[in-house]
Amino acid sequence: MAVIGNDITFAKQLLDANRLVGIPTETVYGLAGNALNEDAVLEIFKVKQRPSFDPLIVHAANLEQIRCFVKEIPNEVELLAQKLWPGPLTILLKKNGEIPDLVTSGLDTVAVRIPRHPLTLSLLNSLEYPLAAPSANPFGYISPTKTIHVNQQLGDSIDYILEGGDCQIGVESTIISFEEKIPTILRLGGQPVEYLKEILGEVKVNEHSSSEPVAPGMMKSHYAPSKKLVLNGQFDLYKQYSAAEIGVLVFGELHKEIPIINQSVLSQTGNVDEAAKNLFSAMRELDQKSDVRIIIADAIPDFGLGKAINDRLKRASAE
Ligand code: TXA
Ligand code: MG
Repeated sequence: MAVIGNDITFAKQLLDANRLVGIPTETVYGLAGNALNEDAVLEIFKVKQRPSFDPLIVHAANLEQIRCFVKEIPNEVELLAQKLWPGPLTILLKKNGEIPDLVTSGLDTVAVRIPRHPLTLSLLNSLEYPLAAPSANPFGYISPTKTIHVNQQLGDSIDYILEGGDCQIGVESTIISFEEKIPTILRLGGQPVEYLKEILGEVKVNEHSSSEPVAPGMMKSHYAPSKKLVLNGQFDLYKQYSAAEIGVLVFGELHKEIPIINQSVLSQTGNVDEAAKNLFSAMRELDQKSDVRIIIADAIPDFGLGKAINDRLKRASAE
């Protein structure tokens, strides 16, 4: 198991030696290594069992640092970044030679963000390089929102996890590309689309991202628990399961017909932000209950972070 603590100096020592560290962000925990060092980057792919065609997000301390490894930051993009960074938005920018091709899986763009967690921001500010960090889960499984999630799954492969508490937002960052005339969202996430539209005007959401990856990691069966998951509370379709075999991701009131211990509450008051924060740990909880054979998710309203929740649930329910 990895040691969990809040020693930034120790985390820096490990990272300087091209070792990996679990880091908190406002979205989910990341598995971080020196983005400019090929050995560290290779180790990330290995520990995560991630295919090499799925590129990593690079986390930076500030815009000045980002300027050192991208070709340019267009004006429109810089204005957006100044407004929303640090925060749960990842922006694709044309990379220069500083970033190894390994990080970007050979693409000419690099995905960049400045995360908002104070501990990780202090760490980034103490480093002379940016951090490549995918979510700290084995490839294809649910992202971690607590240090214990990271330790359970990757604790044998890394030495240290920075304790940053429960992630405030709970779903991964929104990914946006400016490669086309109309800004395009490649992954729905912690930065709501409605707000991006307010700032940018027209914004496209890439509906195909789940099956025809522009973002290579956007495969359909992502974020998946190991059990079957179905959407929108369609209980009557699952009469072959007994009540004790059904787990529910609850949005709103509890279900009288299901044992209470099988119900993981996302938000009892119907709040989508609260639901996003609880989503991944609730999915894990039901996935780990031995009696439960199927997980049924209540319907979630499709606005704000509800859109990102629905996206993750859809992917998790894909066969
Ligand atoms: O909130 C987050 O974004 C978290 C925290 C740790 O920052 N990170 C995260 O990383 O979710 P990861 O690796 O689990 O997801 C990154 C996604 C992948 O689907 C990948 O395909 C896409 O970003 N991506 C990375 N670089 C890309 C690029 N140059 N072009 C298109 N998609 C890219
Ligand atoms: Mg991930």
